[in-house]
Amino acid sequence: MANLLEVTDLQTYFSTKNGLVKAVDGVSFSVAPGQSVCLVGESGSGKSMSAWSIMGLVKPPGKVVGGQILFKGQNLLEFSPKQMQALRGSQIGMVFQEPMTSLNPSYTIGYQVAEVFKIHQPILSAAQVKEKSMQALGQVGLGADKFNAYPFNLSGGQRQRVVIAMAMACAPDLLIADEPTTALDVTIQAQILDLMQGLQQSKQMAMLFITHDLGVVAQLADVVVVLYKGEVVEKASAKDLFNDPRHPYTRALLEAIPKPGQRKVRLASVDENVNYLDFPKEIRC
Ligand SMILES: Nc1ncnc2c1ncn2[C@@H]1O[C@H](COP(=O)(O)OP(=O)(O)O)[C@@H](O)[C@H]1O
Ligand SMILES: [Mg+2]
Repeated sequence: MANLLEVTDLQTYFSTKNGLVKAVDGVSFSVAPGQSVCLVGESGSGKSMSAWSIMGLVKPPGKVVGGQILFKGQNLLEFSPKQMQALRGSQIGMVFQEPMTSLNPSYTIGYQVAEVFKIHQPILSAAQVKEKSMQALGQVGLGADKFNAYPFNLSGGQRQRVVIAMAMACAPDLLIADEPTTALDVTIQAQILDLMQGLQQSKQMAMLFITHDLGVVAQLADVVVVLYKGEVVEKASAKDLFNDPRHPYTRALLEAIPKPGQRKVRLASVDENVNYLDFPKEIRC
C-alpha cells in the first residue's frame, strides 16, 4: 500500500540566543492509509514540532531547515501558506491538547461545527448543515442540547469532543492528534481514546497520534516511533516494540510504566546522565 504521509530526514531548528536548538533532527517515518502511528517520547523530545512541521505551523524562531514531507506524493514543504491552510481541516484534521485553542469562545458549539460543513460541503442547504452538525455531535456523544451551548458551558472533556467532531466533519484522510487527552482526567481520557479509535476504524482514517504515555500507545498504535532529543531511536510495530523493546531508551520508558497491582508508581527509569543517542538506532519497520 502506498504511503499517505512520508516524512524523510525532517529537520526543524530554532535559533535562540543560546544557540541553535535542534528540536527535530533527521526524523523519518511514514503513515499508510488507515494506519495508526504513535510518536512517543518524553517532554521536549520533538513530538509536537514534528507534527507542527507537517502541518506547516512552525513559527519563527523555528524553521523547517531540511528533509521532505510528502502527503499523497505532494511535497508539503513547497506548499504556500494558503495551500497549507486549505489542506488543514480538509484532508488533514487536527486535535490539540487544549481544546480552547481550536474553539472560538464567542460562538455556540452548533455554529462552529456547522461552519466546518459549510466550508467543506457548500452545496448543503441550511437544514442539511444543521442536521449534519447534530449528527456529528451525536457521534461524539454530545446531545442536541449542546447545539446552542457556548464553549464555556462545557467541561474540558466535552470541549475536546467538539473539537474531534469538527475534525471528523471534514472526513480527513489523516488525523493528527497532539496529546489530545493529556489535560483530561483518566476516565474521560479513556472515553475520548475509545471514541477516536472507533471513528478511525469506521472511517478508515489514518492517524498520527502523539503522546508521552506508553499505555495510550499500547491501546492505539500499529507502529510506534520513539523520539529522543529530536531523533528517532526506535521504530517498530507496536507488537514488536512491546514484546521485544531493543533500544535502551525504549526499555527505560517501558520500565517507567506502573504495572497493574503495583502500589507505588515507580519513578521514571530514564537516566538523565545517559546520552541515549550513543546507542545504535533500532529501526525495524
Ligand atoms: N519556541 C521555541 N523556542 C526555542 N526552542 C523551542 C521552541 N519550541 C520548542 N523548542 C525546542 O524544541 C524541543 C522540542 O519541543 P516539542 O516538539 O514541543 O517537544 P514535545 O512535544 O516532545 O514535548 C524542545 O525541547 C525545545 O528545546
Ligand atoms: Mg508537545
